Amino acid sequence: MTGSERPAVPEALLPELPALRALAIDLAQSAGRLVRAGRAETLATHGGVSVKSTRTDVVTAMDRACEEFLRERLATARPGDAVLGEEAGVAGTPGAVTWVVDPIDGTVNYLYGRPEYAVSVAAVIGDPCAPGAWTPVAGAVANPVLQEVYHAHLGGGAALRTPAGEVPLRVNDVRELALTLLATGFGYAADVRREQARALVGILPVVRDIRRGGSAALDLCAVASGVVDAYAERGVHPWDVAAGWIVAAEAGASVHAWDSGADRPLGLLAAPPMIAEPLHRLLLHAYGAARTEAGPDR
Ligand code: IPD
Ligand code: CA
Repeated sequence: MTGSERPAVPEALLPELPALRALAIDLAQSAGRLVRAGRAETLATHGGVSVKSTRTDVVTAMDRACEEFLRERLATARPGDAVLGEEAGVAGTPGAVTWVVDPIDGTVNYLYGRPEYAVSVAAVIGDPCAPGAWTPVAGAVANPVLQEVYHAHLGGGAALRTPAGEVPLRVNDVRELALTLLATGFGYAADVRREQARALVGILPVVRDIRRGGSAALDLCAVASGVVDAYAERGVHPWDVAAGWIVAAEAGASVHAWDSGADRPLGLLAAPPMIAEPLHRLLLHAYGAARTEAGPDR
């Protein structure tokens, strides 16, 4: 397990956390409305969809427009804070608070018209560009299609806001891996996916079943609301998970990184406390075996 180097929250920041949470909710909801309203036009526009790391790693003009919107709003509301976003990288020097934003998490779902996509906005401390050296303190994940927003701040609990009202969130009280419904996701590069698929050979027979929703941010919120029991994925980026992490943690999940070697990216797991350690061991074992089998093509 990694994370011992994660920064401690400065006491002076604690009274600010509810306001950071409120700002994250406002930004995620406003950006979500923009993203949803502009989908048809974005997809119909020549050049509205392009690709990044591989032919299946899509980015839309709306990903860029939404991130720009979030950056402008943050520049006004929190002019001194740095911002890290999926599309435009980092701006500013990480100080007391850095905002980590994913303008559309689940871009493939957005492209296909599936409802599982989200705008993710988090306030973190530490340096989100350094793996293992940051931690989220407040955040919101908005699902614009369902008009839902999950939100949390450190020590303040997690909640789901819908047009019908607001409910507090709590993870399931699952105690056995055999009864655990596990959400996961896959990267975009073929060699990354090959190893993830091989690891599943060790994981799938041990758990109740696997779910792949297509948005890491919503997967973490699903742990918080109990519509899955746990989530684990290797190779996620800070913008995919920062807001969902604080939501899951405040709903009672144990959330931490797992390390399967210096030449592999960190993984993130979120699970109810009783199964967090057994799940961690299973992941290390399954990814260890997958790596051995992967051979020289890695
Ligand atoms: C992806 C989603 C997906 C996860 C990938 C992420 P994107 O983000 O969160 O569920 O499996 O690892 O890259 O590309 O839709 O912003
Ligand atoms: Ca993402």
